[in-house]
Amino acid sequence: MAAILTAGGGAASLILYLHGSSLWVAPAAGVGIILAHLVVFGGIAFLVTRFVGGRSHAGGGHGHGGGGLLLHNPGKYDCLVGLLTLGREGRLRRWMVDLAGLKEGDAVLDVGCGTGTLLMAAAEHVGQSGTLRGVEPSSEMCAGARLKASERGIPIEVAEAWADALPHPDASFDAVFCTLVLHHLPKDVRETAIREMRRVLRPGGRLVLVDWQKPRSIWGAMTSGLLLIHILHSFGSGVMPLDSPELESLLKQLGFGSIDRSAFSGSVMGATVGRLAL
Ligand SMILES: C[S@@+](CC[C@H](N)C(=O)[O-])C[C@H]1O[C@@H](n2cnc3c(N)ncnc32)[C@H](O)[C@@H]1O
Repeated sequence: MAAILTAGGGAASLILYLHGSSLWVAPAAGVGIILAHLVVFGGIAFLVTRFVGGRSHAGGGHGHGGGGLLLHNPGKYDCLVGLLTLGREGRLRRWMVDLAGLKEGDAVLDVGCGTGTLLMAAAEHVGQSGTLRGVEPSSEMCAGARLKASERGIPIEVAEAWADALPHPDASFDAVFCTLVLHHLPKDVRETAIREMRRVLRPGGRLVLVDWQKPRSIWGAMTSGLLLIHILHSFGSGVMPLDSPELESLLKQLGFGSIDRSAFSGSVMGATVGRLAL
C-alpha cells in the first residue's frame, strides 16, 4: 500500500512539475509523509521485534491453557509503548479505561496485562474499595508490573496465567479488559479466551477488547503514526480485525446485550465493548 501510494504520488508530482504546475508540491508532500513514516516507524518496529523479544509458546497441553506470543522485557516494552504512541500513552490509557465506565468499588481484571499500566490508570476510578487484578503468562512481565505498581503505591495483584484458562471463579469482575493481546493469540485460542472473559464477568459487567484494526480511510491511515507499526507488527501474527462480524456474533452469542465499537488515533486501534444486562 505504502509502495503504491509512494509511486503514484511521485508520478503525479513529476507529471505536474513537467507541465509547469506549481501543484506538484502537493503529491510530493504526501510522498514525504509516507517516507518519513517508513523511516521513523519502520526503525521503531525493528527495535520492537529486535529488543522487546516475542517468543511463541505452544501452550501447556494439560488443560491449563496457553499459546501466544509472549513478551519478556518489561522495561523496554514500556519504553517502546511511549515511542510508538508518540508520548500519548496517558491519553491512550484514559481512552481505554473510559470505555469500561468504571465506578468506585468495581472489581477489574486485565487479561494479558503486560506491565500493568492500564490497571494503574484504572486505580483512581475504582478507589480504595475497588480491586485491580491482572493475568499475564510471562513471568518477567508479571514481575515488571508488580514492581511498577509497588513503586507507585498502587495495590494490584498479578497472577501468572493464560487468557484461555483464567484462574478466577465465575462472575467475579465488573469489568474485564484485554488490550493489544488478541493479536498475540493463535486463532483457536482467541475464542476460548473471550469465553473465559465472559465467564468471569458479573451481571452488568463490561468487556473491553482493544486491538489493531484496519484504518477506515486513507487520511486516517496517512495521519496515524501507528499505521506502519500496525502493518509491520502484523506480519506473521494474523491480526484479527476487531470490527469483524465474527467477533460481534460471538459476543451476542455469549449474552452481551449491547455491543459498541470505537477507535483511537486515526482508527488503527479499535475497541469493541460488550455490556451484560443486570
Ligand atoms: C502487546 S502486549 C500488551 C500488554 C498490555 N495489555 C498493554 O496494553 O500494554 C501483549 C501481552 O500479551 C501477553 N500474552 C501473550 N500470549 C498470551 C496469552 N495466551 N494469554 C495472556 N497473555 C498473553 C504477552 O506476554 C504480552 O505481555
